Amino acid sequence: MEKYIIIGGKKLNGEISVAGAKNMALKVFPAAILCQEPCLLKNVPEIEDIERLIELMQDIGVKITHNCRGEYFVSTKEINKTQLKPDLVKRLRSSIMLAGPMLARFGEVTLTHPGGCIIGQRPIDLFIEGFQKLGAEFNENGDTYTLHAKKLKGAEIILPRVSVTVTENLMMAATLAQGITIIKNAAMEPEIIALANFLNEQGAKISGAGTPEIRIEGVKELKGGEITIIPDRIESGTFTILGLITNSQLKITNCEPKHIENLLYSLNKAGAKLEIGNDYIITYPSQLKGTNIVTHEYPGFPTDLQAPFTVLMTQAQGLSLIHETIFEGRLFYTDILNQLGANIIMCDPHRVVVNGPTKLYGKKLVSPDLRAGMALILAAMIAQGTSSIENIYQINRGYENIVARLQQIGADIKQIND
Ligand code: EPZ
Repeated sequence: MEKYIIIGGKKLNGEISVAGAKNMALKVFPAAILCQEPCLLKNVPEIEDIERLIELMQDIGVKITHNCRGEYFVSTKEINKTQLKPDLVKRLRSSIMLAGPMLARFGEVTLTHPGGCIIGQRPIDLFIEGFQKLGAEFNENGDTYTLHAKKLKGAEIILPRVSVTVTENLMMAATLAQGITIIKNAAMEPEIIALANFLNEQGAKISGAGTPEIRIEGVKELKGGEITIIPDRIESGTFTILGLITNSQLKITNCEPKHIENLLYSLNKAGAKLEIGNDYIITYPSQLKGTNIVTHEYPGFPTDLQAPFTVLMTQAQGLSLIHETIFEGRLFYTDILNQLGANIIMCDPHRVVVNGPTKLYGKKLVSPDLRAGMALILAAMIAQGTSSIENIYQINRGYENIVARLQQIGADIKQIND
C-alpha cells in the first residue's frame, strides 16, 4: 500500500514553483477535439487526472505525444469512436468535458455517469439541459447516456446555478453550433477566460468570458494551435497557506497573485505577513487570528482552498466560521482534523466553527479526496510526531511531484510502499 510518512514540526525555507493549472489543462485537452489541426499544449501539470484523461482520449483514437515534461502534442483527426470507456469515465469527473466537443465535432457521444471526488452528489443535469437547449437529443439507459445532434443550434441558455464545467462545456460546444449562443449566469473563473482566449486564437468567436454572460457566434471549423497553461491558483493559495502554517519564510514563484485576491484578503484579515509581487508571494512568520470565510464561485473565496484554510485556522487565535456554500459534502474531513487534536464543531453540512489555536498530534490518516488530502498533509506537517497518509492517489491526482517539491523546501515527507 502506497502512503506518505510525514514528521511534523519542520520549518520550511526556499522557493516552491507553482505548476500549470489542473482545472485548465483538463479542459484544453478536450478543446483540441474541436480543432481540425493538431494542438501543442505547454506547462501541463504531470498529474494522475491528466494521465486518465489522456488514456480516455487515446481510447477513442486521439493521437497524443508527450514531447517532454509538461508538453503534449494532440491530434484529433483520427478519432474513430464516440463511446467513452466506462471504467475510465468513472475514475475522472472531468471526462464529462469531452461531451461538448464530441457533440459539436462528431454529432454524438456516449458516456456513463462521471466519477470524481466524493465532495457531493455531483449531478450532470445542467450539462444535459444545456446540450438539449443546443438541439441535442438525450437518451438514458441505466447509467449510460447518449447525446446526438446532427448540427448544434445556437440558443440562449440560463444556468439556474453557476457551474464551472457546465459553462466551459457549453461554451466549447457552441463554438461550432449554427448561430449565436448566449450563456447567462456563467462562471467567471480565470481558467474560463484562458480557455476562451485559446479557442478565439483558433478562430472561435467568443466574447464576455469572465463575465456572467458569454456570447458565442458559431463558426464552421477551428484551426489548431499552441497554448501555455496558466499557473494553478489552487497550488498558489495552498503553498501560501503552507508557508504561514509552518511559520516559515517561503517564496511561492511562477504564480498569479491576482487570481487568489479573495484568499489574500482573508489571510490579510487574519494578520498574515505577506510580500506580494507580480508573479510571486513570500510568507513570513505571523500571529494569526480567527477569520470567517464563505466559499463562492470566482471571484469569491475558492471552495478548493477551503480545506487548507480551515487547517490554518486551527492554529489561529479565536473562532473562525467556515461556510462552504458550493458542495454539500466538503466539510466532513474536519472529523479527521479533530482526531489530530483540532477543536472544530460542525453546525450543519455547510458550516463549521474552528476554535484555535490547538496543538495537533500525528496519526494514521486516509485521504478522503483531493483537496482534503492536501489539507491533511498541511496538518501532518505541523503536528507533533509522525503521521502516515493512505489513499495518496487522491492527492497525486492534482499535485505534481508533491513529495519531491515539499522535500526541497525542508519538509520531512516521504512516500513508502508497504
Ligand atoms: C469545478 O468543478 C472544479 N473542477 C472543482 O475543482 C471546483 O471545486 C468547482 O468547479 C467549483 O469551483 C474542475 O474544473 C475539473 P461546479 P465542477 O459544476 O464544475 C452543481 C478540484 O478539487 N451542479 O461548479 O464540477 C454541483 O453539484 C475540483 O480541483 C449541478 O447541480 O463544479 C455543485 O454543487 C473539485 N448540476 C455546483 O453545481 C450539474 O449538472 C457547482 O459545481 C453540474 C453541477
